[in-house]
Amino acid sequence: MDRIGIIMNGVTGRMGTHQHLERSIVAIRRQGGVQLRDGRRVLPDPVLLGRNPQKLEALARKYEVERWSTSLDECLSDPRNTIYFDAQATTLRTAAVRAAITAGKNIYCEKPLGGDFKEAMELARMAAAAGIKHGIVQDKLFLPGLLKLQQVIQNGVLGRILSVRGEFGYWVFEDGAQRPSWNYRKEHGGGLILDMFPHWQYLLENIFGRVTAVSCMAATHIPERVDEAGATYAATADDAVYATFELEGGVIVQINSSWCTRVHRDELLILQVDGDLGSAVAGLRTCEVQHQATTPRALWNPDTPDPINYMESWQKVPATTSVENAFKIQWEMYLRYVLENAPFPHDFLQAARGLQIVEAGLRSWKERKWQDVPPLTLPS
Ligand SMILES: NC(=O)c1ccc[n+]([C@@H]2O[C@H](COP(=O)([O-])OP(=O)(O)OC[C@H]3O[C@@H](n4cnc5c(N)ncnc54)[C@H](O)[C@@H]3O)[C@@H](O)[C@H]2O)c1
Repeated sequence: MDRIGIIMNGVTGRMGTHQHLERSIVAIRRQGGVQLRDGRRVLPDPVLLGRNPQKLEALARKYEVERWSTSLDECLSDPRNTIYFDAQATTLRTAAVRAAITAGKNIYCEKPLGGDFKEAMELARMAAAAGIKHGIVQDKLFLPGLLKLQQVIQNGVLGRILSVRGEFGYWVFEDGAQRPSWNYRKEHGGGLILDMFPHWQYLLENIFGRVTAVSCMAATHIPERVDEAGATYAATADDAVYATFELEGGVIVQINSSWCTRVHRDELLILQVDGDLGSAVAGLRTCEVQHQATTPRALWNPDTPDPINYMESWQKVPATTSVENAFKIQWEMYLRYVLENAPFPHDFLQAARGLQIVEAGLRSWKERKWQDVPPLTLPS
């Protein structure tokens, strides 16, 4: 069977180990590789790259991977490796991706593409000029709940979409056991705007329409946290964001993202979409709809218990395809793009667009003003 060499950098991290190695690349290897149109199967041949030899060796053993390395240069100069993948902490991405472009590798990487819009545009320009195949992780598009939502919208069930309301987050305890401490340090690439706006950008623009303006207010609600070594540090990054987006066509979107909220919803992300013919409520795995014909006629009367059970008139949307891991779906798409030129719209320009929206959000918060977001193209 043919093999495709993939440098996997940052593979000891949360995302690197669980989503990209175990549930994507190892899962693709265990299913016998990726299937191409001509019937061939190609097996991913990863090299696990990082700083800590013990951790890398243990991962390689656990997942039956033959190759690991602590040298980016050695991996980049090995002609067996045609793809560079990056899931390192955010501030480390730009330099490594730049080196991989210079080495002529195809590149797939975690969001955000670099620490700011300027860095992301530089990488998008470099990648286009080098003629490599580049891609960015946009996993939420492939989650079962959001796939069902896309299907409902495409089928016209909601009619004209008026607004979207999103609620994302959970309580992150101050003790540092839930998420890496760099997430709460601005100087180390932390902050919720930088973390979540890239996700909101691709979800909104792929499902509802182009973002034309952003208004954003954020806060650092919890000023002190404890790191992985048990030391207390000052949190310097935003840990809650309250944002409004205006979309082409007039759709109004409000999304709260917070690491300082306690969950009173079925899933950690919920999007309610209201249209003139119906509404949908989508989470990571589920989606429910309510049609105009089954919408209860609510009457405002706080003086007596409400006779209507509002939850009863929603219908669950069934899954129409088998439920696969969202990261694995996108990995297979990217591998087919590299191997047989299959379509793959999730490129570095899209990644830079995510950072353009991040920048607009940060500026809006700082200046306390709406920010228009012009369309983004690569200068020729
Ligand atoms: N798509 C998603 O849903 C999603 C979710 C979470 C995180 N992410 C992104 O994935 C990336 C990694 O996030 P994570 O939560 O896995 O972080 P993590 O801290 O768990 O992992 C970071 C990786 O970078 C490496 N690293 C950290 N500091 C380093 C240094 N100084 N030198 C060399 N290597 C270093 C670590 O060893 C580890 O392998 C981030 O860019 C983040 O934005 C994406």
